[in-house]
Amino acid sequence: MHNILLMSDEARSAFIAMKSREEHKLAACCEPRDADIFWLRFERYFEDLYYPLIKVYGDYEDAIEQFRILFDHMVEAYAARPQALRLLDLERQFTPQWFQQPNMVGYTCYADLFADNLNGVREKISYFQELGITYLHLMPLLEPSPGLSDGGYAVKNYRKVNPELGTMSDLRQLANELHDCGISLCLDLVLNHTAKEHEWAQRAMAGEEEYLDYYYTFGDRTLPDAYEQTLPEIFPNDAPGNFTWYPQMASKGRWVWTTFNEFQWDLNYTNPTVFREMVDLMFFLANQGADVLRFDAIPFIWKRLGTNCQNQPEVFQLIQAFRAIMRVVAPGMILKAEAIVPPDALLQYLGVKSTVEKQCELAYNNQLMVVLWSSLATRNVSLMTQVFHDLPRTMIGCAFINYVGNHDDIGWAMTDEALAAVGENGFLHRQFLNQFYTDTYPDSFAKGTLFQFNPETKDARITGTTASLAGLEKALATGDSNKIDLAVRRILLLHSIILGFGGIPLIYMGDELGVLNDFSYLSDPLKAGDSRWIARSPMDWSKAAKRHDPNTVEGKIFQGLVHLIKVRKSTSLLHCFSYFQPMWTDNEHILAYCQKRAEGTLMVLANFQSTEQSVTAKMLEYGGLIGKIRNLLANNVSPIIANERIYLQAYETMWLVSDEFTLF
Ligand code: GLC
Repeated sequence: MHNILLMSDEARSAFIAMKSREEHKLAACCEPRDADIFWLRFERYFEDLYYPLIKVYGDYEDAIEQFRILFDHMVEAYAARPQALRLLDLERQFTPQWFQQPNMVGYTCYADLFADNLNGVREKISYFQELGITYLHLMPLLEPSPGLSDGGYAVKNYRKVNPELGTMSDLRQLANELHDCGISLCLDLVLNHTAKEHEWAQRAMAGEEEYLDYYYTFGDRTLPDAYEQTLPEIFPNDAPGNFTWYPQMASKGRWVWTTFNEFQWDLNYTNPTVFREMVDLMFFLANQGADVLRFDAIPFIWKRLGTNCQNQPEVFQLIQAFRAIMRVVAPGMILKAEAIVPPDALLQYLGVKSTVEKQCELAYNNQLMVVLWSSLATRNVSLMTQVFHDLPRTMIGCAFINYVGNHDDIGWAMTDEALAAVGENGFLHRQFLNQFYTDTYPDSFAKGTLFQFNPETKDARITGTTASLAGLEKALATGDSNKIDLAVRRILLLHSIILGFGGIPLIYMGDELGVLNDFSYLSDPLKAGDSRWIARSPMDWSKAAKRHDPNTVEGKIFQGLVHLIKVRKSTSLLHCFSYFQPMWTDNEHILAYCQKRAEGTLMVLANFQSTEQSVTAKMLEYGGLIGKIRNLLANNVSPIIANERIYLQAYETMWLVSDEFTLF
């Protein structure tokens, strides 16, 4: 072993002590070669886990004992890892770029809404294959709190599947079959909070000291009031404030930190036992066959007085430790940050400077989603181009998740600086977008609703399905075939960008069929208060049945996506590890950027206007495309160039390469 030579003296002696304590145990339950592999990995990642843990928990009296249990559990989890998954671990260590390849295309759905339960989802694998999906994010499926559960994001039992969806064995079977079909499975790990019905919370409620220390609870308002000075409200309409009074708690009553809803209790990560318990849950889910864990609400896991209690330095120390531990036990599984935060903060979740390759492998590209919708409304791509210039150029060992729609709201999170750089006022622009997407702005094509409107600040977010926000709902109501055609084009335009981008494109259930807003949630008292349910409707399989008919809206969108996905998979230039070059054009409606790799250049041109537009043909030269050019999205036909300008139809996207470039 050689990595040990690179360690500091302190880390080396801690490593040797840990190893000598656990060596016999592992030898007793593993083949010698498997044990060797474990120790090789442990040595490689030891400093990555040791230093953050010492930094965060070094002063905690119980820390050493917790570390011992942690290492003990690492050995047990490794020994318990099924053979097939151990093989996958090795395969992925040989192919660390497996999730950065252009063949990665994701889909998100709720198991019950999509196909009743987990077995139903298994029976529909061919549907995913038809679309070209290789990554499936199943929305929360562990046992949730009864009644209100924030769509499953309040977990009562992390070791049990929601009985309405099936069993743990169904989940394993689903994971196995997905793997056989080349599809990776992403599961949520709700690690900022548990349901108030979780056993830990119940024991805290009963006043057990040990479990009170799992949460942030306060006997009076002194500290909650101090924290509230700088804390934002996540759901100001439905769950104002960040603390909830539980009169029966620990007999006298206590305030509990509840960032989201009163039934979601924030975990106290200053307690190393909480960290260790969460690691155990990661082992458990990894060994069921999860390929990706989605770290729900990760920015919130560390609190600090006087701050907004998001993105604190300790969050990144903890992620580094989580990742290093998983690299030893289950390196085939990767981590995805659900961090809907400003761009600078977001990058930290993927690793910057000394934390490169030490944070999450994946993170949601919220910025891209927001500027796509902004550009669709303004028909102007200046803001998007500006934001693209601030995106990181190289993505070592990580990837963005690029998406158009999802189960949550759209918050207009572009920075005031980016807006100012293109001559827009942040407040006014956000007001415009809210009006536009709720159809209160003249000539808007969109139909959406406001979410968490704050009458004082006029702040609000938007909910609605991709199709309704892109104009399909209004167009269908008028029956105007031209408007319907434009709406279909808009839906495909947005998807042509996320599919023509480095990273993992993620399609949200129903978007492939143009599913419209569904107001039936209003008659369900458990959903009526949360307008995000407008875009969480049961899969309409009668719509899906029309997907092969090119004369239907469903067929046009579905087949349009199948085409984009097929072309995406056929070009190495959409590998996430490419040089991304955003470009200004001489037409504010036309977006341009290049993805460059040693083997060639792909130039994306996209028209965000509802009429034909042109851009100077010099763009090709600026992007380094010379000679004969082909448009991959139009059967390799050369784009029309007249008067030295390239012409794009309404909402058309081109993926241009030089004729010499060969596809896979
Ligand atoms: C994430 C989920 C969201 C949920 C919140 C609290 O942001 O996407 O749906 O409300 O976490 O768990």
